[in-house]
Amino acid sequence: MSVAADLRTPLAVLGHDVQVPLVSGEKVGYAALDYAASSPALQRVWDDVAAYAPYYGSVHRGAGYLSQLSTDLFEQSRRTVEEFLDLRADDQVVFTRATTDSLNLLAGVLPAGTRVFAFETEHHASLLPWRREGLTVGYLRAPRSHAEAVARLEEALAAAPEGPKLFCVTGASNVTGELWPVAELTETAHRYGARVVLDAAQLAPHHRVSVRELGVDWIAFSGHKLYAPFGAGVLAGRSDWLDAAEPYLAGGGASRTVAREADGSVAVEWQTGPARHEAGSPNVIGAYAVASACRALTEAGFDALEAREGQLIARLTAGLAEIPEVRVLSLFGPEAARVGVLSFVVQGWNSSHFSAALSAEYGIGVRDGLFCAHPLVRTLLGSEDGAPSECGAPEPSLPGERSLNAIRVSFGAGTPDEHLDRFLTAVRELVTDGARWSYRSEGGRCVADTRRG
Ligand SMILES: Cc1ncc(COP(=O)(O)O)c(C=O)c1O
Repeated sequence: MSVAADLRTPLAVLGHDVQVPLVSGEKVGYAALDYAASSPALQRVWDDVAAYAPYYGSVHRGAGYLSQLSTDLFEQSRRTVEEFLDLRADDQVVFTRATTDSLNLLAGVLPAGTRVFAFETEHHASLLPWRREGLTVGYLRAPRSHAEAVARLEEALAAAPEGPKLFCVTGASNVTGELWPVAELTETAHRYGARVVLDAAQLAPHHRVSVRELGVDWIAFSGHKLYAPFGAGVLAGRSDWLDAAEPYLAGGGASRTVAREADGSVAVEWQTGPARHEAGSPNVIGAYAVASACRALTEAGFDALEAREGQLIARLTAGLAEIPEVRVLSLFGPEAARVGVLSFVVQGWNSSHFSAALSAEYGIGVRDGLFCAHPLVRTLLGSEDGAPSECGAPEPSLPGERSLNAIRVSFGAGTPDEHLDRFLTAVRELVTDGARWSYRSEGGRCVADTRRG
């Protein structure tokens, strides 16, 4: 076993020692268990950014030393991301704001008439950008196994007319954490001439991702979910459609030359390559932070990170399985491989109420709701469209009964074992003894009342 594969402790992250107030007035160390929304910054990323900050300068513009240094750093960051994703020689990396931005960028470069296919189980960021003029979207019903997913895609593609096609798939669900069979789906899509974009927002922070091995045509991820919360994300992959389309944003940097014509109009020659879709002043700190996170995760070693996270997942699922009132949401069944993301409902509890109690009484930060994946969560809950019930009103959530939102716990490379132990203890206590305080709705959220319940 290599040294890296023997990772016993979490990676250092900012905020690991932050104390938060409980409703009782005591203070407790914050247990950040909402990594799927945004993970804390790696200490290493913070240190790298702080070391660079005094040297910050404009990218691609100035003749001065710091401007040149910043330009080099920006372009080196692109190289680091290329290596991190194991891209092919002619792929390109475009820095964006995040996954949502990346997928909207891609939607804008698809040739007119492209048919896009996506499972209805996708996050809204990979479900919605394709609903635009010139594109047709085919949503595929939620599959209940990997084999069914591949069969559903094959059936849809076999029935599709000739013409450009794109299939969009998530690598790991932001609701269930379950892994999707990306390589098999890609192989199927390619057999029918469809290209594939992988939404790796939840996959890249947890698993090594090789674009070359998976065969996907594009990949998108967000820096703020990869321990680099400085406003940058990535779209990487094939150049041809990117280079053929109008720039995502029109402006400086995307244009090679702009000339005044005799008739008073302006003729523009656009760049090719990443610059075409990166108009405006680039977010060099964001890009550098993403590259720093890529380096830190690679050096820690994904074998070691996955092994450690696997232990945490096993501890969590075993602990929850001992609480009969808890129902874990799953598309592919209890044996499905997952990353450190898990959603559940608790019999007799409104999920917002339960999450509020975890925060107010235990200092544990999780998330409740439909997680920007409304069709998926409603399928898993067996609920119809509709608003969740009022905070504090009990909701039935046994199989076969209805609950209208769920609780999500998510973690990663910076999570100590103690956070999950504390979480499991809190869930057990709340289920057994109930909340110790009363809660009320405020601005659409459930919050602890200041008087004792
Ligand atoms: C699977 C998945 N895709 C896309 C997104 C959108 O990411 P961002 O909000 O960083 O654009 C998220 C965010 O939660 C996600 O979980």
